[in-house]
Amino acid sequence: MLSRQIAETLRKHRTPFYLYDIDLLRQTLESVTSVAARYGYVIHYAIKANFDPHILELIKEYGLGVDCASGNEVRCAIEAGFDPSGIVYAGVGKRDHEIRYAIEQGIFAINAESLQEIEVIDSIASSCGKVQSIGLRVNPDIDPKTNKCIDTGQADSKFGISYEELVSRLEWIKSLKNIKVAGIHLHIGSQIRELHVFEYLCAKVNSIVEHLGALGLDFGFVDVGGGLGVNYDLPENEPVPNFASVFSIINSHLKVGGRPVHFEFGRAIVAQCGELITSVLFNKTTASGRKLVIVDASMTELIRPALYGAYHNIENITSRSAEHARYTIAGTACESTDIFDEGVTLPLTSRGDLLTIKSAGAYGMSMASRYNLHDLPAAVYSDSL
Ligand SMILES: Cc1ncc(COP(=O)(O)O)c(C=O)c1O
Repeated sequence: MLSRQIAETLRKHRTPFYLYDIDLLRQTLESVTSVAARYGYVIHYAIKANFDPHILELIKEYGLGVDCASGNEVRCAIEAGFDPSGIVYAGVGKRDHEIRYAIEQGIFAINAESLQEIEVIDSIASSCGKVQSIGLRVNPDIDPKTNKCIDTGQADSKFGISYEELVSRLEWIKSLKNIKVAGIHLHIGSQIRELHVFEYLCAKVNSIVEHLGALGLDFGFVDVGGGLGVNYDLPENEPVPNFASVFSIINSHLKVGGRPVHFEFGRAIVAQCGELITSVLFNKTTASGRKLVIVDASMTELIRPALYGAYHNIENITSRSAEHARYTIAGTACESTDIFDEGVTLPLTSRGDLLTIKSAGAYGMSMASRYNLHDLPAAVYSDSL
């Protein structure tokens, strides 16, 4: 929890803003890279989670590659100094100019999500006079036991290619001259907290690798995506996610014949180091007795609660009251779903108090919008407080 002294120094910044704990980010990067090194795993950072330049600088320092979801994310990674040879690019709807840009930059792999996309990559690579490495994103039909809004690996999902479809066109894929199948790729969802799900993932991957090998497909890497969840309920109990457990599960269950194993973590790397600091504007009570605290942040700074019903732990960091009350924390946007929490118990909270909305480092700022013509929030870093 932020000390009262730090909370008071935050008052010099105009709210709402993101506050990033740089020491915690370093600890997280230290943990993920040191445990991954034990197994020789390759880690890409899913830049969609947060593309703040200072954060990218640190991530680059620790030697991670990058996982991108658009041409502009590839550009952002390259402009931030990441080597194209460590960049992977997935996404169901890559535009032609984005594919061309990625090919021209010589990125490590484009992870293809449909047969038609493979054909387009081959044709654009041919027009560039290049052979592009691709990963085949397979839809493994696994329930990741997470929020349905962020589940990407079930049979009916828009992501990936079904294994049956892939196999039915394998000879055609092998015949294409301007792509090289360099690996396979899977990503089954985000905020996965039931780690045994990764055992099911390994079992699927083992069978896919074995069958594709038996069908004569010569490929290298196996990219098992990201998805490791964080503790949104009690972030102080688990500030650094349990990378050791997930890597140990993968190491015990994945049998891919010595192929390099890649991961693409976003949330697990940056969620806990960020919080959204917001000021209380008004208090009011509805006719039914609901006590509203209206803050100066909204879904335009942090959309996860409104978009997915996601939970974030909220604290009042400046109230000195010993008395407590139960509040609904509402944002400023003209949308009824712009509610951060429907029932949080806080010390008596009033105009001018500062609240922190925790675990907001991932998919917070990167999803911010200018709806209602709000300004985009600033970033404040613990190492320059
Ligand atoms: C292909 C792919 N890889 C990695 C990620 C990162 O997921 P997470 O932030 O849960 O680690 C995502 C998230 O949407 C994704 O779509």
